Amino acid sequence: MPTPLKHVKIFQMKIAKGKLEETFLDGSARITCPPELTPTPGQYLLAHADGSDFIPGGGAPLPVPLFSSLILPSSGFRSAPPLPSSWRPGESLTLRGPIGHGFTLPPAARKIVLVAFDESPARLLGLISLALKQKAEVVLVSNLQTDDLPEVVEVQPLKGLIGALQWADYAAMDVSRENLNQLRERLAGKDQITAKIEAQVLIRAPMPCGALADCGVCALTFHHDWKMVCKDGPVFELKDLL
Ligand code: FES
Repeated sequence: MPTPLKHVKIFQMKIAKGKLEETFLDGSARITCPPELTPTPGQYLLAHADGSDFIPGGGAPLPVPLFSSLILPSSGFRSAPPLPSSWRPGESLTLRGPIGHGFTLPPAARKIVLVAFDESPARLLGLISLALKQKAEVVLVSNLQTDDLPEVVEVQPLKGLIGALQWADYAAMDVSRENLNQLRERLAGKDQITAKIEAQVLIRAPMPCGALADCGVCALTFHHDWKMVCKDGPVFELKDLL
């Protein structure tokens, strides 16, 4: 059953206006918002386009979770794809957040692996500047080509996952709830590797209420228990998922 709302940091959340400034070919977008709303890597905002109060058939469209891909020096962030296809540059947004537990880069980590298990690595890219700031080496494991990576970041295909984890002292992963079992299978029998590193996993799931209504849509089975991705995550410790 859903855990009670007492764990939700509702009072730290803020609601404010933001704006979709521009969109990019990869489906990401530049969003401006007050600095206190900018999500850290792994956290998210729930966004509602102000011009979309009505949809045919009745009701309001569901809010959209926005993850940061890059924190921008000016106020705002570059959001990871996807965005609703109806959103256009100039769109005014109502934003709520930041919500959830993000990634926590261990200050001592010097060999960092970012793993995009089944989709774009966009939600992990904000960790690169943090990793380089603490003089860590970074390997990105992904089957998708990513443009504009710093030259020092080495890219490996997914088949290099185990080797990269053997090398790393910290791993940040991104996987959909549907593919979590595939990730578990890939790591089965590799306890020696997974036990020696700190590793965190961002689980992607639909999050229509963002912990406000306990809707249960984002539920994740967790050792005979339920966790809500929207508020207990979306970033979890790998050792808790295996
Ligand atoms: S409980 Fe509604 S999105 Fe998680």
